[in-house]
Amino acid sequence: MGSSVVVPTASSGPDASDESTVLESGPPGGQWWRSAVFYQVYPRSFADSGGDGVGDLGGLLERLGYLELLGVDALWICPVMRSPMADGGYDVSDPRDIDPLFGDIAVLDEVLEEAHDRGMRVTMDLVPNHTSDRHPWFTAALRAAPGSPERERYIFRDGRGPKGAEPPNNWPSIFGGPAWTRVTEPNGKPGQWYLHIFAPEQPDLNWENPEVVADFEQTMRFWLNRGVDGFRIDVAHGMAKPPGLPDMDRVNTAMLVHDDNDPRFNDPGVHDIHRRLRKVLDEYPDAVSIGEVWVDDNVRFGEYVRSDELHLAFNFRLAETSFDAAKIRAAVDNSIEAVAAVGAVPTWTLSNHDIEREVTRYGGGAVGLRRARAMILLELALPGAVFLYNGSELGLPNVDDLPEDALRDPTWERSGHTERGRDGCRVPIPWEGRQPPFGFTSAEQSWLPIPPQWAGLTVESQLERLDSMVSLCRMAIELRSVRPEFAGDGLEWYGSPVGCLAFRRAGGLICAVNTSSVPTPLPPGEVLLSSVPLDGAMLPPDTAVWLV
Ligand code: GLC
Repeated sequence: MGSSVVVPTASSGPDASDESTVLESGPPGGQWWRSAVFYQVYPRSFADSGGDGVGDLGGLLERLGYLELLGVDALWICPVMRSPMADGGYDVSDPRDIDPLFGDIAVLDEVLEEAHDRGMRVTMDLVPNHTSDRHPWFTAALRAAPGSPERERYIFRDGRGPKGAEPPNNWPSIFGGPAWTRVTEPNGKPGQWYLHIFAPEQPDLNWENPEVVADFEQTMRFWLNRGVDGFRIDVAHGMAKPPGLPDMDRVNTAMLVHDDNDPRFNDPGVHDIHRRLRKVLDEYPDAVSIGEVWVDDNVRFGEYVRSDELHLAFNFRLAETSFDAAKIRAAVDNSIEAVAAVGAVPTWTLSNHDIEREVTRYGGGAVGLRRARAMILLELALPGAVFLYNGSELGLPNVDDLPEDALRDPTWERSGHTERGRDGCRVPIPWEGRQPPFGFTSAEQSWLPIPPQWAGLTVESQLERLDSMVSLCRMAIELRSVRPEFAGDGLEWYGSPVGCLAFRRAGGLICAVNTSSVPTPLPPGEVLLSSVPLDGAMLPPDTAVWLV
């Protein structure tokens, strides 16, 4: 058996001196995103330049060289707009400005320019379903009377029961508690209720109001005109609400859980909204939209990526699948089928800022890491767009023992301190050095503490080792971008033993994964890369291999 690693060449990575060559490369007819590797930056956890312990755009700017080295095609930057930060920036009080915590518009411009020079596109995160409760529209709505145009931008209703003391319907908030909050009217009396599917600090907008649509279109143009290459659209299956806001049949109070029959999401009216937004994007030929769409049914999922709606939509099947060959294969088939009917491109992701990190999901420790290495090879072998969450390339685990006073996810408070929420997957990136905060910040502490045990997981230490997760990712991303074997939209499955899977791309790449506990013979071919060094003609347990 040949060597199991391919050393990246010195000339790897795009030529930063020729921007047009770099940014125009990709599939013919534009659509650079069709097979792109996106890197998700959670800004408060990526790198801090300001010394306050919280990551910012200046930190991202300083670390762009690392992302170029990693070889990613594009960035998705989670929200950096003005926000009181009740939900990590997903509560936006001014969608057309940068929050001072993260920098200012000038730094964003620098990030855009430098990323483009280095051959990377930049997408931002837009939040259409709701605003912050400190958005001037919402504070005006609170000052205005029921039925006023100010209230019509949101979803205000009278309560039910005697004196309207009960919420207008039985919907719970995704973060716990009811999805309605009662306001005190300007006359000092208890009054109407407003809808917030997420935290009370995130009032839902009324997308039937043309002013809301127009304002969002203005926001899109604002950033696109600055050179942003597209958007990740938050809760893209939200926005539209069913007429009359009927009660839920079964009240699902589980937090952060998704269900296709949930009336809070996936109302058919959402597709008209996406068609409107697509028209704006089409004014910018290379711009892409990626929707966060938590919808399981394939037909209904596919509707979001029809040719006049979103370009891409996150399919979370792979992220929800355990390390089991049959289930992984079903998730891959499902994700491809979901978009094939409408001629769209599949997307792949193993984790993000809302999901437990994959190393932990796959069992944690050395086993979890070994499986995460296998899964990243599987993911990068697939046709379509891949999304890597910052820290995945380092094999970071979840941190499930953060001190309680450090927790910031609204779920923690809203659940009465019973659900810790998502902070465990948002711990900052360890960059260098032997102890926390590992070069993330010049402050003594990062906003969430980094475990001292991460000394061996720093970017610096991993870049020095060819057998590290980051080296594996670099090699895999480079091969994916340069080798002709990765061509073709579909894949063909090979028969394989129980607990194993193998498929072939039209270009000739073969990917095999062994999730069983016994070694299995390698498929025929020459080894291009494997998730652990191979010894002989067998694929060991918890391992993936690429062959040509
Ligand atoms: C999306 C985001 C999540 C946020 C929520 C509300 O699901 O990914 O982080 O809390 O929307 O905006």
